[in-house]
Amino acid sequence: MANVIVVGAQWGDEGKGKVTDLLSRSADVVVRYQGGVNAGHTVVVKGQTFKLHLIPSGILYPDTDCIIGSGTAIDPGTLIEEMDRLEALGVATDRLFISQTAHVTMPYHRIVDRASEEKLGDRKIGTTLRGIGPTYADKVERTGFRVIDLMDSESLGDRLRYAIDTKNAIIEKLYGLPPLDAEAALEQYRAYAERLRPHVIDSSLKIEDAVKKRKNILFEGAQGTLLDLDHGTYPYVTSSNPIAGGACVGAGVGPTIIDRVIGVAKAYTTRVGEGPFPTELHGEVGELLCDRGAEFGTTTGRRRRCGWFDAVIGRYAVRINGLDCLAITKLDVLDELEEIKVCVAYDIEGKTCDRFPSSAREFAKCQPIYKTVPGWQQSTANCRTLEDLPEAALNYLKFLAELMEVPIAIVSLGASRDQTIIVEDPIHGPKRALLSPSSVPA
Ligand code: GDP
Ligand code: IMO
Ligand code: MG
Repeated sequence: MANVIVVGAQWGDEGKGKVTDLLSRSADVVVRYQGGVNAGHTVVVKGQTFKLHLIPSGILYPDTDCIIGSGTAIDPGTLIEEMDRLEALGVATDRLFISQTAHVTMPYHRIVDRASEEKLGDRKIGTTLRGIGPTYADKVERTGFRVIDLMDSESLGDRLRYAIDTKNAIIEKLYGLPPLDAEAALEQYRAYAERLRPHVIDSSLKIEDAVKKRKNILFEGAQGTLLDLDHGTYPYVTSSNPIAGGACVGAGVGPTIIDRVIGVAKAYTTRVGEGPFPTELHGEVGELLCDRGAEFGTTTGRRRRCGWFDAVIGRYAVRINGLDCLAITKLDVLDELEEIKVCVAYDIEGKTCDRFPSSAREFAKCQPIYKTVPGWQQSTANCRTLEDLPEAALNYLKFLAELMEVPIAIVSLGASRDQTIIVEDPIHGPKRALLSPSSVPA
């Protein structure tokens, strides 16, 4: 019996969707706590691929309640499309619940996101252009629309006309773009409201009820630690808090109900969008990781930048999230390599540094200091226990666990549910008896 947070330990796309789906087997409730349709979580079940953007990755289990929490940014049109796509694939969405206090992405948010990126030119963030930053900016400015406002048909018209009038000044004068038609937007958002109304709830009450009944709750993070607004590589971050602390804020629960925090990390590193990335590889090995790992964005189709595993940011993720254990994904992508590098520290202008520097300028100067370990050059895709793994692969995992000072609970060797080694079940298993350096078979 446990309440578990699943959090990305790198720059997103670590395989949170696969891990959440896997753990959802034991979960009664899955809550997405932040982010919006910038996320793209892929779940592969029996050869069928599901790409989820806002709907929690627990939706594929018919008895699991899925909640889009208060800390998310909801683009209603895209959410409805996602629901329709799932229904068409035979996945029921009647157990999908939407927090009435989540914020709503309005038509002007996408326009402003794109226009702002274009205006920034070389200094752009490389956002997903889904209006995420502008939605959260309005939330903080206290001019945003929450789901509950969208549902209030009496006041929606006046509020939306006023908001569009204000935003049109920015759209026209600052960005030189045509203004939005308030009446057309109103008609569209009224239709969205009616479609989503049956799913809208006070999510904190539903979660409280699950807590009281001692149900298993899984909190699914989007993005990753290094994309966190407060603790990531600012300004090249998203506009919400993917870190474990964000789960309490975004779901509306106290930290005392959380039992475990599991960090998901790839066996190497990727990043989409702009910003420093010390272990990025530009040559042949980077290409190989990208090709073997099929590293193209789930949401935008952009090619992901690829590089070696960075244990400095890994340790940082352990610290910032209070990780209990790790899920290491995509180990199979390294199968062909003769040798593998792991960044153990940075060189900053001749000084060795083994901590993530808060200053963006300093982080941009970090040169990786690598330790090289042998590869295994054989397929791991069909391994189902630690004993099945080639010795060098096991040693690689052991090395990562040692560097990060946390045990490994899950190893993923392919996109399918079954391509997984569960070292310890993070929901039911003991708290700290996993692939810790001492528990690896000789
Ligand atoms: P998320 O955003 O963290 O949920 O990750 P994404 O779904 O954006 O990206 C991870 C990609 O890797 C998806 O296409 C998954 O199907 C795939 N994947 C997950 N785990 C593994 C694995 O262990 N091996 C391989 N080869 N692919 C994996
Ligand atoms: P999942 O949940 C990887 C990145 C964007 C950009 C920055 C800001 O699938 O791991 P935004 O649109 O959020 O304002 O963009 O964040 N980004 C992601 N990168 N995975 C994601 O989600 C991401 N969501 C946003 O590429 O660099
Ligand atoms: Mg993704």
